[in-house]
Amino acid sequence: MAQGMHLIWMIFCFHLICISSQQETGFIYNGFGQADLYTDGVAKILPNRLLQLTDGTGQKMGHAFFKKPFEFNSSESLSFSTHFVCALAPKPGFIGGHGIAFVLSASMDLTQADATQFLGLFNISTQGSPSSHLVAVELDTALSAEFDDIDANHVGIDVNSLMSIASTPAAYFSEIEGKNKSIKLLSGEPIQVWVDYGGSVLNVSLAPLKIQKPSQPLLSRSINLSETFPDKKLFIGFSGATGTLISYQYILGWSFSSNRVSLQALDVTKLPGVPSHRAKNKRPTELLIVLLISLAVIVFLALGAAYVYRRRKFAEVKEEWEKEYGPHRFSYKALYNATNGFHKDRLLGKGGFGEVYKGTLPSNGQIAVKRVSHDAEEGMKQFVAEIVSMGNLKHKNMVPLLGYCRRKGELLLVSEYMPNGSLDQYLFHQGKPPFSWRRRLIIIKDIASALNYMHTGAPQVVLHRDIKASNVMLDAEFNGRLGDFGMARFHDHGADPATTVAVGTIGYMAPELATMGACTATDVYGFGAFLLEVTCGRRPVEPGLPADRQYLVLWVCQCWKMASLLGARDPRLQGEISAEEVEMVLKIGLLCTNAVQELRPSMEEVVQYLNESLKLPDISPNSPGIGSFTPLIIGSNSFPASPTTKTLSASFYSSSSATDSTFVTHSIIHGHGR
Ligand SMILES: *[C@@H]1O[C@H](CO)[C@@H](O)[C@H](O)[C@H]1NC(C)=O
Ligand SMILES: *[C@@H]1O[C@H](CO)[C@@H](O)[C@H](O)[C@H]1NC(C)=O
Ligand SMILES: *[C@@H]1O[C@H](CO)[C@@H](O)[C@H](O)[C@H]1NC(C)=O
Ligand SMILES: *[C@@H]1O[C@H](CO)[C@@H](O)[C@H](O)[C@H]1NC(C)=O
Ligand SMILES: *[C@@H]1O[C@H](CO)[C@@H](O)[C@H](O)[C@H]1NC(C)=O
Repeated sequence: MAQGMHLIWMIFCFHLICISSQQETGFIYNGFGQADLYTDGVAKILPNRLLQLTDGTGQKMGHAFFKKPFEFNSSESLSFSTHFVCALAPKPGFIGGHGIAFVLSASMDLTQADATQFLGLFNISTQGSPSSHLVAVELDTALSAEFDDIDANHVGIDVNSLMSIASTPAAYFSEIEGKNKSIKLLSGEPIQVWVDYGGSVLNVSLAPLKIQKPSQPLLSRSINLSETFPDKKLFIGFSGATGTLISYQYILGWSFSSNRVSLQALDVTKLPGVPSHRAKNKRPTELLIVLLISLAVIVFLALGAAYVYRRRKFAEVKEEWEKEYGPHRFSYKALYNATNGFHKDRLLGKGGFGEVYKGTLPSNGQIAVKRVSHDAEEGMKQFVAEIVSMGNLKHKNMVPLLGYCRRKGELLLVSEYMPNGSLDQYLFHQGKPPFSWRRRLIIIKDIASALNYMHTGAPQVVLHRDIKASNVMLDAEFNGRLGDFGMARFHDHGADPATTVAVGTIGYMAPELATMGACTATDVYGFGAFLLEVTCGRRPVEPGLPADRQYLVLWVCQCWKMASLLGARDPRLQGEISAEEVEMVLKIGLLCTNAVQELRPSMEEVVQYLNESLKLPDISPNSPGIGSFTPLIIGSNSFPASPTTKTLSASFYSSSSATDSTFVTHSIIHGHGR
């Protein structure tokens, strides 16, 4: 009995509570641990008591409603107050998220609504329809132009439509500062929201977590809720949605009361924490530091690479013994810049020896740079010494050699630039007008003078070793200048000339070179061949011609025997021709190409013959050694040079232009014959 009474009492009490709550609905959730909410979509209560509306995935929505409807008699008598704390956390790597809304709805079933900008409240057919029976306070973090959104961070009051009847940028009124301060909704920081309704006016206020409810609402708008909810019954809850814009949307706590005075304030200290979504991401400052460091490393590496590249690009080979040649040494960088990076537009010529580029140096003016590739380091010291000594030779009919530069596998020789190129172009190339006899004689005398200086005037005897029209350069006034000392070698007065190497170009090489090596007389032979070349306008050996004309020396002699020495002259010679001079030069040419070394004149005598200050010896085509030509064939066994010098000679002493490179020394030196 007592038990029965007890039960009845309990039922009575329960009823009492229900009646009272019907008149005065109210609840408070400091975290949703005990809450019995209706949820759908991705909305759920997390183990840490957080109400999650959306979970950081795209195109999702979630709803959470207090299960019991809230009923009222009339709009005038209706009032309520609610206070909730929400947090909208950005998802790393994504922008935005559409936002959340506090919802008053006639129905809890919003599963037919759409996510994205519809915020899980409406779909395309219910949007704007009075039959939606829905009022919402939106915290919108996306700018949806179709709904006339003011910005991507605003608060709005929506009645049956996402076209807010009132909206304003998210802010709160700061009592201390006496002005509105903006709030960033999508910051991940908890934000307090108050929604108050009374006297048909709906007020919305916002504030950061630690701030008291502002005295002025952010939004205030009169609404007749009886019109929207004719059944005088509504459910209260939340909705959140994502689209391609994604954020995490949480409600931390929620308090509601139909009696505005009895609204219980949320206890901020009891609210669950907002999960950090920065875990995957580094803090912005850390990220910035990491970025800056990587940037610095990249810049450093790039600079380093550029430095290494430049070092490689401009790398040179420099040895101790070169110190004394300092003034004659050019830096590769200077030559590189002078020739515009050895640009093909600066290419003057190309041949078996390498390439010649035109350049401009601030200190030397116009220069010619010859790039010779080589792989022999042996003999380099001697070679450089020779180049430098050569640079010290001064004669008006020599191309001044300015200096050199050494790199791995490469040697660069710098000389003065000769604007009119080499003589062979004027002799053999159809494009250029052939020189007159007068001009040819002047050039012959120029070269004789230069060679005489090399043989007698210089501190050392200097052999040129490769006298030929293509090695005779023309300066601005078309004076002859002996150039291309690449082949030349020195030997001291009196030293054994036979130890030097046989190099040169077929047809200009004295027969004794096969066994003896070079000496001044072999240069004289070369000069003789050059005289015949210039006068007759053809090369000493032309394999394409009939047998009796192939060898120039033989042919000139033949002409002489047939009493028409003059007939051997270049048929292209025009204008005034002195027969005596032509014949004299041809005779000197034959004298110099005498097969017997001892019977050749010296360069000193040659100069005098040319100046007609010394009478030509009386010779005939039948004199000993005159007009005999033996093509020079040197077997590698009979070659009188050491293997090292041989390599050196092959690699850069054999400087012949492309046209006559078929006869060259390379093959001779390597013993293949012609
Ligand atoms: C609303 O109407 C019911 C009867 O239908 C009444 O009991 C209640 O007191 C009324 N409430 C208000 C606030 O007027
Ligand atoms: C919109 O939602 C309503 C109910 O809320 C539903 O009846 C209707 O089919 C939905 N329309 C579309 C296009 O989803
Ligand atoms: C603060 O903002 C609200 C709503 O936009 C506005 O009504 C109010 O005048 C503003 N107050 C100040 C001090 O600017
Ligand atoms: C709404 O705010 C105004 C002040 O802007 C205030 O007078 C009114 O009482 C408020 N109403 C509610 C229901 O809080
Ligand atoms: C509110 O709407 C209801 C129903 O349309 C109407 O009866 C009532 O008079 C309205 N109240 C005000 C204050 O406009």
